[in-house]
Amino acid sequence: MLERPPFVLMLFYFLLLLIKVPFVSSDGDIIGKITVGYQGWFGAPEDGSQLDVWWHWSKDNKHPPNPINRRFISWPDMREYTTSFQTNFSNLGNGQPAKLFSSFNEQTVSTHFKWMQQYVIDVVALQRFNQSYYEVNIRNEMAEKVRANAEKYGVKFYIIQNGKPVICIWGFGFNDSQRPFTPDECLNVLNWFKSQGLYVIGGVPTHWRTEDIDSRPNFLPVYDAFHMISPWMVGRISNVSDADRFYTTINTPDLEYLQAREIDYQPCVIPGNLDIETEPMAN
Ligand SMILES: *[C@@H]1O[C@H](CO)[C@@H](O)[C@H](O)[C@H]1NC(C)=O
Ligand SMILES: *[C@@H]1O[C@H](CO)[C@@H](O)[C@H](O)[C@H]1NC(C)=O
Ligand SMILES: *[C@@H]1O[C@H](CO)[C@@H](O)[C@H](O)[C@H]1NC(C)=O
Ligand SMILES: *[C@@H]1O[C@H](CO)[C@@H](O)[C@H](O)[C@H]1NC(C)=O
Repeated sequence: MLERPPFVLMLFYFLLLLIKVPFVSSDGDIIGKITVGYQGWFGAPEDGSQLDVWWHWSKDNKHPPNPINRRFISWPDMREYTTSFQTNFSNLGNGQPAKLFSSFNEQTVSTHFKWMQQYVIDVVALQRFNQSYYEVNIRNEMAEKVRANAEKYGVKFYIIQNGKPVICIWGFGFNDSQRPFTPDECLNVLNWFKSQGLYVIGGVPTHWRTEDIDSRPNFLPVYDAFHMISPWMVGRISNVSDADRFYTTINTPDLEYLQAREIDYQPCVIPGNLDIETEPMAN
């Protein structure tokens, strides 16, 4: 069973596990490396950002998160954050107040990058969204914080593959109503970025190769034009037998298809709780 394609990326971190395709040049930062997607999008009132709401913590973000009004599953380990914000959850099991962090806080970002250095994460991919959206200023501010801390902790922020700076465009070909772009429009955008000398990854639907289910038809020419394909997997797998089924029917034939065309492959791995069926809005 498929989740509705997400309108925004709803995970805090998602891991992109990269497989090295032997005959494509591996001269670069991304092939054969682990890339962590970094949203930096949890906020709280009075955290210093202009949003000033419980951004991505609460469904109704004017109100503090509680067991009903929440958008997350797992309670973060808060021990290393020096600034935290009181929620409307009752105290934790150890009697401590139930507080959460803000991604906008400098010490939060610094702590994340310290962890990435400590656990040898190669690459950070900072997500940006629709630039005309209300988040535009905060995305620029997060980019500055992330760059500063990546440099401080030796995590690569600008990544180069095959001599080209790398970008990823997510969303071409998804069949939801918010992404009604035609194949020609998408090719036009993609070819413009390629003409600027960039290495372009496509964040594409799970069923891109068969052009059905979550993919619009007639998009193979778009998918084939990327340097690397990273099919969406968030919310697609609910249990271990699903994982096996996807490996056999999706991942393996995807890799074969791409290898035959010398296109790189970046599978997407979701850490943590797979049981999205029981927590559809809580990720
Ligand atoms: C806290 O949650 C309770 C329900 O558990 C609700 O009645 C109350 O209004 C919430 N408080 C705030 C400040 O949102
Ligand atoms: C970007 O956001 C603006 C303002 O909310 C909206 O009008 C526009 O349709 C969005 N563009 C896309 C591609 O979602
Ligand atoms: C996308 O595909 C699914 C499965 O075929 C379908 O149920 C849904 O209506 C489609 N959505 C759009 C916007 O076409
Ligand atoms: C695994 O999840 C799928 C839905 O994605 C369901 O159809 C299937 O029955 C589940 N299998 C097991 C063993 O729980």
